[in-house]
Parts: sequence; structure tokens; C-alpha cells
Amino acid sequence: MQVLVYKDAETIARAAAAIFAGEITRKDGVVIGLATGSTPVPTYRELIRLNREGVIDFSKVISYNLDEYVGLQHDHPCSYRRFMNEQLFDHINIDKANTHVPDGIACNAAEYEQEIKDIGGVDLQLLGIGSDGHIGFNEPADEFVYPTNIVKLTDQTIDDNARFFNNRDEVPKTAISMGIGTIMSAKRIILIATGKNKARAIAAAINGPVAPAMPASILQMHQNVQFLLDEDAASEL
Ligand code: PGA
Repeated sequence: MQVLVYKDAETIARAAAAIFAGEITRKDGVVIGLATGSTPVPTYRELIRLNREGVIDFSKVISYNLDEYVGLQHDHPCSYRRFMNEQLFDHINIDKANTHVPDGIACNAAEYEQEIKDIGGVDLQLLGIGSDGHIGFNEPADEFVYPTNIVKLTDQTIDDNARFFNNRDEVPKTAISMGIGTIMSAKRIILIATGKNKARAIAAAINGPVAPAMPASILQMHQNVQFLLDEDAASEL
């Protein structure tokens, strides 16, 4: 595990985008795992810039997203499919047929898991982290759930994500998410985190025991993982 501390979110975005550029250039048909939420937005902005400047060609890239709310239509303003289109896919030369976001209507978790296996797994997985330590939507629990599955969101996650909805009641209570095993089978992982509200989870994930109560702690067992943090997120290390 490597922990890298940067001065701000923009610098993290440039560092993360450079890692993507390297992996995408290295392998035709590279499979990237993508994340939603506020944290990846600057990285996506940087990827768009690098695509426009001709540094990254996405034409052969295949993507799989971590998760999606259950019950939201694909074009719902808060769906993660729509988020990905608006924040990244609509602005780069990726073939939309090669982009995959779990289907929160069909909820075909086993199919999504199999598809990722069949394609040979994810080469580079981007992760954020919840203030409760979730990765994807794998919430603190009594045991790790390994394959893509349907998860019940914690009150903390519902509170954190209410800002994207008109009100808290509109936040779906369940989601479909790559499991802990799906994430851990990625060949390389980068986790990005910014802000004081992530500091406790980051410290527990990096220095605490590996335990399902802190899902991100499983990353201690991964062979090729980098944490890209700002000073606030790193402040309790
Ligand atoms: P955030 O979400 O980037 O909006 O803080 C991160 C996450 O829940 O994984």
C-alpha cells in the first residue's frame, strides 16, 4: 500500500488522471473501474482535458462502474448512469456501448459480476470512500460480502448523499454494488479522498484492523493500492 498526500483536490485529480493515462496507454482494451460522488469529479474534468488534448484515447477503453441506486431510471437526475454520462462519458471519445453501470432497475447483480469476470477483471479501479468507510456501496457490516450484490444503505450514507436529492426522503434505501471481492480482484486500485469528514475513515482504513465494520480496511490486503489524499483527509493518520 502506498499513501500519497497532496496539497489539494486539483493536484490529486492531476495525479489520478496521470495514472489513468498510463494504464490506458499501456493496454488496448483496458478495463477501468469508475466511481461516482463528488470526489472523482475533478479527476473526470482532468481526463476530459487530456482526451481533448489528444493525450488519452478512450476509443478502446471499457468501463465498469462500482454501483447504482436501486429503483432509479437510467435518466433520473440522481442516477449514477446519468452522472457518468454528464460528468465524463458525454465529453470523451469512449464508445458508450463499452461503458457499464449496474442496472438499478433490473438489479442483475450476478450477471454484472459474471460480465466483469468474463472480460478478465478490472485493470485499474478508482475508489472514493464514504465517511463511514464504505467502498462502492459496501457498508460497515458484520461480514464482508464478496460478489456484486444488493446492499442496504446506512443512515450515514443516506445523510451524506441527501445533498444530491431534493430531500432526504428521496434517497433510495438500497443500491446494487460491486462487492468487496469484485473490488479486490482489480489488478490496481487508487482510492482518492479529500476533506476532514473523510479523515476518521481514512485513518481506520489504513491503520486499523482489517474488519467488515470498516470496509475500506480490506484494501490493506491488496497488492497494488495507492491512497491519494489531501492534507485534511490525511490529518488523522
Ligand atoms: P463523495 O462520496 O465523493 O461524494 O464523498 C464518496 C463515496 O461515497 O464513495
